[in-house]
Amino acid sequence: MKRLSSGAEAIIFLDKDKIIKKRVEKKYRHERIDSQLRKARTRREAKVLEKIPVSSPKLIESDGQEIIVMNYLKGPKVRDVLDKKPLLAKEIGEKLARIHDSGIIHGDLTTSNMILKDKDIHFIDFGLSFFSAKEEDKAVDIHLFKQALESKHYKVFEKAYEYFIQGYKKSKKFKQTMERLKNVEKRGRYKKK
Ligand SMILES: Nc1ncnc2c1ncn2[C@@H]1O[C@H](COP(=O)(O)OP(=O)(O)O)[C@@H](O)[C@H]1O
Ligand SMILES: [Mg+2]
Repeated sequence: MKRLSSGAEAIIFLDKDKIIKKRVEKKYRHERIDSQLRKARTRREAKVLEKIPVSSPKLIESDGQEIIVMNYLKGPKVRDVLDKKPLLAKEIGEKLARIHDSGIIHGDLTTSNMILKDKDIHFIDFGLSFFSAKEEDKAVDIHLFKQALESKHYKVFEKAYEYFIQGYKKSKKFKQTMERLKNVEKRGRYKKK
């Protein structure tokens, strides 16, 4: 078993063709609140992995507390290839439209949470996802992604964002969500963590 990454939230292990994602204790949080939070995010991630209507890892098992086992997606993060292939942003937009139309908000959309495997973008990291059909929630999801694009992919930002929106036009609520996005941007209080 090999440790692949240790992020703010979780440790990721690779065991043959399986990924084990373990949400670890955070000492700065109150113990009970911390274990509740880890449990809630683990359960949410497992549930969304089962319902997400675009390519993603398959859920293999979860203890419903802190561990998720899923299949390993071999390929680069979109973060490492988007600058060379900004057209990928169109596929991201199309897939986000499908996700939003199915009532799911990702909650942490960045190009680090997408893996390119077999020329197909796979979405990962659903611990902050939730179920909502509100235009407001969709607009905030888009706004956070736009900020992530601007900071991590500033060289291709304008082109990439344009492609992304072209793809997102497939959403059933495209116009309403874009109207809402204007409001979100005017308020400007959502900052990427
Ligand atoms: N199913 C998977 N297949 C391949 N790599 C993965 C998989 N799940 C996670 N990873 C890798 O581990 C990193 C962290 O996982 P992620 O679920 O994004 O957790 P977090 O960002 O909360 O630490 C990802 O950016 C990716 O590189
Ligand atoms: Mg992540």
